[in-house]
Amino acid sequence: MKLFRSKRARTAVRKEPPPRHIAIIMDGNGRWAKRRGLPGTAGHSAGAETLRRVSSYCRDIGVQYLTVYAFSTENWKRPKEEVDALMALLDKYLLEAIEKMERERVRMAFFGDTTVLSPELQARIAQTRKLAQKIDGVQLNVCLNYGGRDEIVRAARRWAERAAAGEGGELTEEVFSDLLWSAGVPDPELLIRPGGEKRLSNFLPWQTTYSELVFMDTLWPDFGPKQIDEAIAEYHRRERRFGGV
Ligand code: IPE
Ligand code: IPE
Ligand code: MG
Repeated sequence: MKLFRSKRARTAVRKEPPPRHIAIIMDGNGRWAKRRGLPGTAGHSAGAETLRRVSSYCRDIGVQYLTVYAFSTENWKRPKEEVDALMALLDKYLLEAIEKMERERVRMAFFGDTTVLSPELQARIAQTRKLAQKIDGVQLNVCLNYGGRDEIVRAARRWAERAAAGEGGELTEEVFSDLLWSAGVPDPELLIRPGGEKRLSNFLPWQTTYSELVFMDTLWPDFGPKQIDEAIAEYHRRERRFGGV
């Protein structure tokens, strides 16, 4: 089996190891579609294809965790037709992912409250989770109905419940981290936001306190290995001090 599928992947890997964990705010689908005179859903379909391309590439260059923002707790404010289209697209994506997971070696996981989704989609997610247990390769964390503040409040609530039950112990940063959706996953070294906006939009506030933030104008559907390489190169140019000297 070929270890790296593209020349670019080999070159990128040879220089310096990539970040262990990359987080991406997949933004710009709407504008991509609008510029082409297409309905917004066409942008989301194109964005889903980009996710396939990018997760395969990240696997090839040795990234261990890829966390992507797919649907925020605020995205429910969008028109019902768009929300429905996004959920249908997700279902289709998962169906294909389930078929290909073993071959593709992309292990899927989910961050966010999925219990409010349709029973069909919840069943698909459960199926995906079950299959993922057997897969090595890159771990793809899909943030779905995810909000950073919601995540923190839920963790606080869980802690309070434990404390009330007398199972307290000392509350440390490590203990609290283990109550988040991201329990067991190291913090992202690099966060990329395509689409030109320079904000985090409620994405991973706890986990990104020391992440390197890279904002790019390229819209998510136009993203690919080249843009990932550029973001990683920018990451390697940064001096990470973590408050030290
Ligand atoms: C991001 O693309 C996808 C989701 C939020 C689900 P947008 O739909 O936000 O695209 P823009 O920002 O309007 O271009
Ligand atoms: C962030 O994008 C959410 C996702 C990519 C899923 P938005 O398009 O919703 O963010 P804002 O509204 O520009 O902050
Ligand atoms: Mg947007």
